Amino acid sequence: MFLDNILNVPICQPIKKSYEHWHEFMEENIEFWLPDSEWHTKTHCARVLLLALLIGHQKNLSDKEMDALGMAAVFHDSRRLDDGIDKGHGGRAAVYYKEYCRDHDLPYDEQTYYITYYHDQDDSLGLSEIAKSLCLSDRAVLLYQIFKDADALDRFRLGPNALNVNYLRTEEAHGLVDLAKALLRKSSETNV
Ligand SMILES: [Fe+2]
Ligand SMILES: [Fe+2]
Repeated sequence: MFLDNILNVPICQPIKKSYEHWHEFMEENIEFWLPDSEWHTKTHCARVLLLALLIGHQKNLSDKEMDALGMAAVFHDSRRLDDGIDKGHGGRAAVYYKEYCRDHDLPYDEQTYYITYYHDQDDSLGLSEIAKSLCLSDRAVLLYQIFKDADALDRFRLGPNALNVNYLRTEEAHGLVDLAKALLRKSSETNV
C-alpha cells in the first residue's frame, strides 16, 4: 500500500490504522474532478492525511476530531477545476462532502465542512468565519490550523523553497518538516 514503509516508522504507529482507513475510503469512494492533476492528486491528499493525523495525535485530539481531520484531508482538493490557486475549490469540496454524507447516511461534521471550505482562503477569513459559526467551538480553530499546516507541509512537492516554515502555525508541524520531505521522496521513488 501507498507509503507502507513510512507507516512502519515508530512515529506513525499510533495513527497507522486511522490513515489506512481514510486512505481506503478515499480510493474507493471519492471522485476527483481533476484526475490528471499534476499537483493535487490523491497521493497529495494521502500525504496531507498522514501529516494531519500526525499533528493531531501529537496535539492529543479526540477520535472524533481525528476523524474530522481525516475526512477533510480526503475531500479537500477533490473539486479543483485547475492546478492553480483556483480559489473556491475548498467551497466546492465542502459542498461535495456535505452532500456525500447526506446521500450515504454518514455522520456530518460541521468542523470538517469549515476546514474544507476555507482551506484555500487566508487564515484571517477562515478564522473569522469559524468564529461567526454558532455550531463551532475553539477546537475548530485548532483543527483548521492543523489542517492548513499539513497541507502546507506538502508544498515541498512544488520545489525545495515552496514552503516558508516561518508561516507554519503549530509547533508540531515544525517538527515534521523532515518527514514531509521524506514522504515526497518515497512518493517519487514508488511513482505513486
Ligand atoms: Fe486545496
Ligand atoms: Fe491540498
